[in-house]
Formats: sequence, structure tokens, C-alpha cells
Amino acid sequence: MEEMRLQKYLAAAGVASRRKAEELIQQGKVRVNNKIVTELGTKINPEKDIIKYDEKIITVQDKKVYILCNKPIGYVTTAKDQFNRDSILDLVKVKERIVPVGRLDMYTSGALLLTNDGDFVYQVTHPKHEIEKTYTVTIKGIVQKESVEQLRKGIKIEDYTTRPANVKILKTEEEKDQSRLEITIHEGKNRQVRKMCEAIGHKVLALHRSKIAGIGIKDLPLGKWRYLRQEEIKRILAGTIEKKK
Ligand code: URA
Repeated sequence: MEEMRLQKYLAAAGVASRRKAEELIQQGKVRVNNKIVTELGTKINPEKDIIKYDEKIITVQDKKVYILCNKPIGYVTTAKDQFNRDSILDLVKVKERIVPVGRLDMYTSGALLLTNDGDFVYQVTHPKHEIEKTYTVTIKGIVQKESVEQLRKGIKIEDYTTRPANVKILKTEEEKDQSRLEITIHEGKNRQVRKMCEAIGHKVLALHRSKIAGIGIKDLPLGKWRYLRQEEIKRILAGTIEKKK
């Protein structure tokens, strides 16, 4: 392997996306030959230098794995945290050092990608690539057509106006006083779907991501996972390339 930038190496090793790896470096969490390095321009020679993150030596694994999981609620999409909450990484057990591609809230279920390919994480999560995500959301109350129109056009959530979204009313249930919507967005602000529904005055009762980058999880029971097929990986990456133009 040739000399390369430290953040690229960390991404290739699956530690984090390139962007996140830059943050880890700047936060002084990465050592090269036992010295903390915070300079983003740092180049390393993978054959000679010893790179450590989190007190562990980081090596680049040749085999890249790409996984689709149906996340149950109650799992966080980070590694085990200080509250010792269950992590999705306790559920998807493979020998490669995988990370989730983006995040889902603890109380959101559904489609989540995981991989040890940091470049893939970067491609799929970068806002400019506009990966499509589809959610089924159950909300309290009977939704009005005007509110749905607001969600479609874009709505202010805190200091941000969301981009146009595809929104369908799947069901309204008078007797239960709840509605179910399907919302497709191409962005991923923190807790975006929950905030969008709150902005039209409805509390979210349940949130499930049914598809990511056009790949659904209907055949995957909650808590189960499978490897992505080559053709699916290509399709996801092709989607990101088209959007880059
Ligand atoms: N929007 C949310 O509010 N939560 C998620 O987990 C994903 C999208």
C-alpha cells in the first residue's frame, strides 16, 4: 500500500467515514507511531507506520463487507455508549470491524446499512449525494391534506427548511385517532422525520425506515441481517455518482 493521508487510511480500515475520521484526528484521538497527530495533511506509510485509534492498532482489511439490517427499536447505532445501551453491533456480529452507514434513532426501526468500507460510508452519507430514504411513520391524530402539502413542499424545522419530500397518506384511523404516512426524503438531518411531523402538530408514535437507496427490507425480519448483493452495492454507488454530477 502506498503512502496516504491519515484520514483516508482510517476510512479504508472502516474506522469511520473520511469526514468523521478528520474529526477524530483533530480531536487528538489518533496516534501515529505512538504520537498524537492532529494535522489533517499527515501522510502515513501503511507498511511502516503504526496507527492507533482508541488504543487499538488499526489495520486495513482487504475484504470489504456490506450488510443490510432490519434494526429493531431499542438499539443505538453507535458502539456501546456510557449508558451501556444495546448497540446494533451486538446484533450484527461479523469478524470485520463494521460501522453503521449513517444513523437511526434508538426508537426508530428498519433499514440500516453497515460496512467496513469507509469510502462507501462517505459516499452514502454525504449530503450532496442525496441518498433516498423511505419511512413509514405513525402519528397521533388525523392528518389534514394541507399539512401533508406542507411536508411535501418543505417545512421549517428549527432553523432549517426541509427539501421537497414525497409524502403519501397510507391510512387514517378515526377510532384510534392516528394516521400513517409514507415519507421519502433525500436528506438526513438529525431526527428529521420526527421534527417534520412535530412541525405539522403531530406526535410520532412509531417510525420505521422501509427502504434505503431503493432497497427494501420486507423479506428481512426485525433483528435479522444479510449481506448486500454485488448488484445492490453497485446500484447504491451508481445512485451516489449520478447525484454528484
Ligand atoms: N428521522 C428521524 O426522526 N429519526 C430517524 O431515526 C431517522 C429519520
